[in-house]
Amino acid sequence: MSDQMVFDDLLHEEREFPPLAAFAEKAALRDESLHRAGAADPVKFWEEQARELEWFAPWKQVLEWNPPHAKWFTGARINISHNCLDRHLKTWRRNKAAIIWEGENYEFRTLTYQQLHVEVCKFANAMKALGVTKGTRVALYMPMIPEAAVAMLACARIGAIHSIVFGGFSPESLSDRINDAQAELLITADGGWRRGNIVALKNEADKALETCPSIKNVIIVKRGHADTFHLKVKEGRDHWYHRIMDGASSDCPAEQLDAEDPLYILYTSGTTGKPKGIVHTTGGYSVGTYVTSKYVFDIRDEDVYWCTADVGWVTGHSYIVYGPLQCGATILMYEGAPNHPENDRFWEIIARHRVSIFYTAPTAIRAFMKWGDHLPAKHDLSSLRLLGSVGEPINPEAWMWYHEHIGRGNCPIVDTWWQTETGAIMITTLPGVNTTKPGYAGIAFPGIQATILDEQGKEVTQGSGLLAITHPWPSMLRTIWGDDERYVNTYFSKWDKSVYFPGDGAKRDDKGNFMILGRVDDVLNVSGHRIGTMEVESALVDHPLVVEAAVVGRKHDLKGQAIVAFVTLKSGAMMNREVIAELKQHVVTKIGAIARPEDIILAADLPKTRSGKIMRRLLRDIAEGRALGDTTTLADPSVVEMVREQYEEKYGD
Ligand code: WT7
Repeated sequence: MSDQMVFDDLLHEEREFPPLAAFAEKAALRDESLHRAGAADPVKFWEEQARELEWFAPWKQVLEWNPPHAKWFTGARINISHNCLDRHLKTWRRNKAAIIWEGENYEFRTLTYQQLHVEVCKFANAMKALGVTKGTRVALYMPMIPEAAVAMLACARIGAIHSIVFGGFSPESLSDRINDAQAELLITADGGWRRGNIVALKNEADKALETCPSIKNVIIVKRGHADTFHLKVKEGRDHWYHRIMDGASSDCPAEQLDAEDPLYILYTSGTTGKPKGIVHTTGGYSVGTYVTSKYVFDIRDEDVYWCTADVGWVTGHSYIVYGPLQCGATILMYEGAPNHPENDRFWEIIARHRVSIFYTAPTAIRAFMKWGDHLPAKHDLSSLRLLGSVGEPINPEAWMWYHEHIGRGNCPIVDTWWQTETGAIMITTLPGVNTTKPGYAGIAFPGIQATILDEQGKEVTQGSGLLAITHPWPSMLRTIWGDDERYVNTYFSKWDKSVYFPGDGAKRDDKGNFMILGRVDDVLNVSGHRIGTMEVESALVDHPLVVEAAVVGRKHDLKGQAIVAFVTLKSGAMMNREVIAELKQHVVTKIGAIARPEDIILAADLPKTRSGKIMRRLLRDIAEGRALGDTTTLADPSVVEMVREQYEEKYGD
């Protein structure tokens, strides 16, 4: 049977993969005891799990729930940097590798828990010397280097609130986020390697800082390339990391924070043009990331754990840094691209460091498939024992390929559904416990209550509906920075104000496994990254030639979704290759390369309802070449035909 036939069959047969005996034998969890405990009493379940961490003072109450606002472990005192570091120093783990780092240019560094602790304490003191204290917002715009983790843990240690901005975002995106959070310190680097080039982060940051009056200080990590870029160091404001670390003391006891003190803000796209600053607090987030890391990844002391995300995304926060380090894991951190110098760099890394747990995204897996089976086959991947997937639905073909060509049939795959807002994994299989079906993420993690509702809030048992979380959980977002009303409206207003609305469609099989069907709002998922259609539209209409823009997603083999923009131009303006290139570049400049539209289509007019709302559904149908749905509510039905003709002229076969 050819591979293709196997995949085709799969879609009909729904093959099942029960836990592998060899894996389950040694797994931390082999039965459904935790699922049962979590279902019986989620609050008690989380309380029991929380006891595995070190608290400076106990909680008075586990959960205070005034829907839609939750407080977890009220009255308790804790510090996540203490649980990531100090807790392990008392054990043999003191000299265990915490971070094994590989630079794209083949530089290597390893930091033991002890060394990481010293680095974090010194950096925390260095920040204090610059006036950073509990509650100060600190922005990070960094490459994937150990100092990114150091900076996060140092902020956490003193109660400063970090806000990481992915290094691929534009200066304008950076400055918007800095200004929204009113950050006082920016930590960046002279540069970082990406696909053989150096991304000059500090130079980009300097452009952002022209419009960031709240920033008092900038710390620059020297990755070694400053000379190349005519890097400017602004006297009094800019400080080299290595210089301020020089005299810093390594004595910095962790601040005994309230469980509900904010830990970080992380911006994510929503349905308006303005990204939301998701706020996570200390105690509940510690518990959620710790427990999920322990059971979903089954982390053991001898593992080398590699999550390929960037610290700029929530996956990097929860499953590169906070979760695994609380578990005392050895994490691998890689700076660069998967295809540099060749398309087999990841397999080379797994073989070199004997990686045993590998967590990546479907978009990457689909790229590996395209690059060819011979590449992983060239490398010794026998150290792998568990694989993970996150960011978007993994199609069964990609699941099977991952299983066969990377896991060699010997590794369970955990398909983990969660969000920036949830802080930690919510739906997944547990590798020693649950049967996995390709395409299905699995069931709710112990202590999590998930279901599917219709628009009216009625439970859906047959077919698809809207995913809903019906009970609060420790690592949930607490609010949107500076905009609690938006928090309430976005997440807790769809149904009852105690039910969380994640914005995803889903369906269930007869065993209760969830298949996640993707976003149901105006948010795209491009290569596992969330991009708001409104953000891209605002970027486009910002261009002097554009009058109006409507952005939709269309299916894309590698990226999952690609961005399609329909634009109307000022009268007299012509659409040609140069203008298209210019508009694409304009979006990149405004937002960042991840938001670059795939197609730009001139539309003489956009299809609107009689009340003036752009009908994206129709545009999606056009972009995906489908038969057009109901157009009876349209103000002018001929508009659709016209747009379709224009699209097909350009992109049809
Ligand atoms: C959205 C959240 C959570 C870290 C990465 C993305 C989609 C995420 C899965 C999955 C199907 C998934 C959802 C979700 N998503 N994981 N395993 N299966 N869809 O975080 O940027 O906050 O995006 O990503 O649509 O709502 P994010």
